[in-house]
Amino acid sequence: MPIATHERLIRPARNIYGSLRLPGDKSISHRYALLGGFAEGVSRFTNFSTGADCASTLACMQALGATVNRTGPDSLEITGVAGRVTQPAQQLDCGNSGSTMRMISGLLAPQTGRFTLIGDDSLSRRPMERIRQPLEAMGARIALTDGHAPLVIDGGPLRAVDYTTPVPSAQVKSCILLAGLQTEGTTTVHEAVRTRDHSELALRAFGATLTRTAGSVSIAGPQALHAIDASVPGDLSSAAFFLCAAILFPESSLVIDSLGLNPTRATLLDVLTMLGARVSVLNLEEKNSELVGVVQIAPRPEGLGSVEISGALSAQLIDELPVLAAIAPFTSGGIRIRNAKELRVKESDRIALVARNLRAMGAEVTEFDDGLDVPGNQPLHGATIDSGGDHRIAMAFSVAALRAEGETLIQGADSAAISFPEFFDLLDQVAER
Ligand code: S3P
Repeated sequence: MPIATHERLIRPARNIYGSLRLPGDKSISHRYALLGGFAEGVSRFTNFSTGADCASTLACMQALGATVNRTGPDSLEITGVAGRVTQPAQQLDCGNSGSTMRMISGLLAPQTGRFTLIGDDSLSRRPMERIRQPLEAMGARIALTDGHAPLVIDGGPLRAVDYTTPVPSAQVKSCILLAGLQTEGTTTVHEAVRTRDHSELALRAFGATLTRTAGSVSIAGPQALHAIDASVPGDLSSAAFFLCAAILFPESSLVIDSLGLNPTRATLLDVLTMLGARVSVLNLEEKNSELVGVVQIAPRPEGLGSVEISGALSAQLIDELPVLAAIAPFTSGGIRIRNAKELRVKESDRIALVARNLRAMGAEVTEFDDGLDVPGNQPLHGATIDSGGDHRIAMAFSVAALRAEGETLIQGADSAAISFPEFFDLLDQVAER
C-alpha cells in the first residue's frame, strides 16, 4: 500500500541507542522571538526552534516592524522595534500556535493601533477568553467570536492589575507580564501552580526587572528591553519522545546533549525515575538564566513500574502526558492521569485522541473528563493512528509503535513539524531494528 506524504509507517524497534542534540526549545524560542522583536537593538539566536510554531511568532514580529535575518537553518538575527510596533497592513497569522496568539496579545494590547490575530482551524477552536479577561481588567479592548479567534485588539494605554489565573497557564501569565512591562504601575500575576517561568527568565535576560514571591510574579512598568545574544537550550518536551522510547527496551542507552533543564519543565525526569528509569544529569550550567545539561537514560532491569500523575504534576507535565499515556501499556502497573482537563483544549482533545488510538492498538483505557487510566501489562499491535493533525499525538504514537507487534501507520505525521520537523529522522537514527 503506498504511503501518502502526510503519513509515516513505523516499524517496531529492538532498542534505542545513541546520542542526540535537539533543536531549540519551543517555549524559549517563542519568547526570544517576541522579546528580540520588541527590544532595542539586534539580537542573535542560535539553536532557535525549527518548528513551524516559532516561525509563526517570527512572521508576526516581522509584520509588526521587526527585521528578521536568517543566518542559518537554526540561527537568526532580529532587529527589534524598540518598544513601538507598527500597525500591520494585514491580519497576524498565528498558524497552529496558541503560544503566539496568547503571548503576542499581551505585547500588543498596550500598543497604538488595531491588530487582528487569526489562526488555523485548531487554533480557532481554542479558548481565548482566558486572555481577554485579564487584559480587559487592565482596560484593554479585545473582541472575540464566541470566545475564540479571530481576536481583535484595539490597543491603547492600560492600567496595572493584580490578577489570579483561574487555570494554570504560562501563556496567560506571560500575556499579562508582557502587557505589564509596558504599563505604568506594578502588575502582579498570582498562580496556584508554578507554571514554566521562561518569560520571567527571558525578560530578565533582556534587561527587565521582575520580583517573585512563592505564588506570584510582579513587573513594574514601563521598562525598556535591550537586545541579547543567546543559544536556545534543546527542547525537553521534544526529548520526552526519545526518553520514553528508550525506557521501553532493556538494552537501550541514550544521551541527550545541551538539553534545557529549567526546573519548571524538568518534572518529566522525576516521573521517568519514579517509573523505574535510570536518569543521570551531567554538566549542568546556566545560560541566560536557563539551566542546560546532558541527560543520560537507561531502563532498569526490573522494568517499568507505575505512576499516578495529578494535581500540580499534571500542569507541569502537560505537554508530556500524551507520550507517557502512550507508553503506559508497557509498564507493569499502568499510569493514572487526573486534573489534566487542559489536555482537552490543546491542539486537539488529547484525552480523547490518546484513548482512541490506544484502543486502536488493542489496549484497554478508561477515559475521564480530566484524565485517563491506562493499565499496564498490555501488549499493543500495529494500527492506523489518527493524529488529528496534532504534533504531540503523532509523535507519542510513533513511540508506542516501536514496541508494538507489527507496523503502525501514523496519519497526519507531517504535523510533527509544528514543533519538531527533525523527529522522524532522529528516531530512525537511534532506533535499532
Ligand atoms: C506553553 C505553555 C503550555 C504548553 C504549551 C507551551 C508556553 O500551555 O502546553 O505547549 O510556552 O508557555 P499553557 O500555558 O496554556 O498551559
